Amino acid sequence: MIKPRQALHTVFKAAAATAVIGLATASVAHAADAGNGKVLADSHNCAACHGVNLNKPVSPEYPKLAGQHSDYVFWALRQYQMGTGNPHFGRNNAIMQAQVQSLSPSDMKDIAAYIESLDGDLVQKK
Ligand code: HEC
Repeated sequence: MIKPRQALHTVFKAAAATAVIGLATASVAHAADAGNGKVLADSHNCAACHGVNLNKPVSPEYPKLAGQHSDYVFWALRQYQMGTGNPHFGRNNAIMQAQVQSLSPSDMKDIAAYIESLDGDLVQKK
């Protein structure tokens, strides 16, 4: 026989599992759209600091982005977004935090796909 406390625990586990499946489905539902990513990068003036084609930073302290892996870029953008709530969680650079607050997760995926599609000077050393 299942005791009430155990039953509650089972229900909770089932709900948690459903939530995880829901999240996984949501993340594959949106196929990244590099074309929309370019529109967003242009309208948010990312090139004002990261330079032409996001590959010629206007100052050495701004990183080159062109050609970076999209999953890395997506998480970098998410972390700037999360960093404002808790300085110990996420990235806490004030300049980039200001850039990403209005972006949705799917916007960030699109921007990340656009950045990966660009030819850049980043090299992979073997
Ligand atoms: C006002 C200047 C400025 C603008 C505009 C700007 N950035 Fe940045 N960006 C920076 C700086 C400075 C850093 C380095 C921050 C740090 O040290 O974490 C950075 C870092 C990044 C990184 C992390 C790179 C890495 O290798 O970890 C990404 C990704 C990025 N920016 C994307 C964007 C995108 C996309 C936009 C437009 C929505 C944008 N940036 C607009 C200044 C800017």
